[in-house]
Amino acid sequence: MGIESHRHGNETARRRWGLLARALQNNNRSSTTTTTTNSSSRNKDKFGERSNDKQDLISVRRISNFGLITIIPIDSIEWFLYRVNNYEAKVKHLNLTLTPENLMGFNNTGNVCVWPSEEVLAYYALANLSYFDGKKVLELGAGMSALAGVYIAKYSACSLITLTDGNQSSVDNIKDIVEENNLDDKKVNCSLLRWGEVTDVSYDIILAADCLFFDTTRKDLVHTMWHSMNKGGSGLVTAPRRGTTLDKFVEEASNCGFKYCVSDCYNQDIWKRHTELMRDCPYYDCDIHFPVFILLTKTL
Ligand SMILES: C[S@@+](CC[C@H](N)C(=O)[O-])C[C@H]1O[C@@H](n2cnc3c(N)ncnc32)[C@H](O)[C@@H]1O
Repeated sequence: MGIESHRHGNETARRRWGLLARALQNNNRSSTTTTTTNSSSRNKDKFGERSNDKQDLISVRRISNFGLITIIPIDSIEWFLYRVNNYEAKVKHLNLTLTPENLMGFNNTGNVCVWPSEEVLAYYALANLSYFDGKKVLELGAGMSALAGVYIAKYSACSLITLTDGNQSSVDNIKDIVEENNLDDKKVNCSLLRWGEVTDVSYDIILAADCLFFDTTRKDLVHTMWHSMNKGGSGLVTAPRRGTTLDKFVEEASNCGFKYCVSDCYNQDIWKRHTELMRDCPYYDCDIHFPVFILLTKTL
């Protein structure tokens, strides 16, 4: 790294901490809550990104909506209808309160929004529903929505589905979503699961969206996948490349014994949306925004 880019990096970091400090100060001063969800009350451009906000230029640009799913407010505060063709699910958004406690507590990245990787995985699952027939399915790091798992629970003939995250607020929110969508509680359950732990049940299919960039827990994630999966089972994983993080995950998975296939073009509609964003969205950066698809298999 050259001196200029190092200086620029320091300046960016300083300004990001400034943003955080201001958010916390505002929180304390007004005793109202500062929220970081993609609620409809903020100005958004057509990519789901907040616009006219100079501070966003120094926060990491977020494509909070890949545009494959129509999101319709139900009560305009927290409940939204996520619709794809004739498929619908009610999703509760968490209005994350910025407090020192939750910034210091367990990872809150899943409580910010439904990330494009989850949206894309949900879309992919809906296009391949028969794949889940009779299967036991586990979602890891499902965030506040477990959107892919919720659609699979609602529309596929899977035999069992377990929706998990390591953050208790995410899990509580998923429980509300399961209840609100009247999902069959004999086949759907939600629980707190931290990577490194192993489930009692052995699953046929394991899902994970945008879970690959945590350097310190990548090995644990692979461990949970391997030991919670039946022989002959598969992992459906979506995530942006984010530097070398996806490659490192694939390497870890391969070392553990998984066969893998990494794919950019795995669904025509998703690919079309990606090419539109490439053409039209000035801040679309494939490396951090485009969800790549990884199929893992635990061969017999
Ligand atoms: C970027 S979010 C993705 C959430 C969701 N899949 C989505 O794409 O909207 C990463 C998720 O991984 C979860 N997570 C991070 N570290 C974890 C760990 N060690 N054990 C379990 N979950 C973890 C976080 O709580 C968070 O919900």
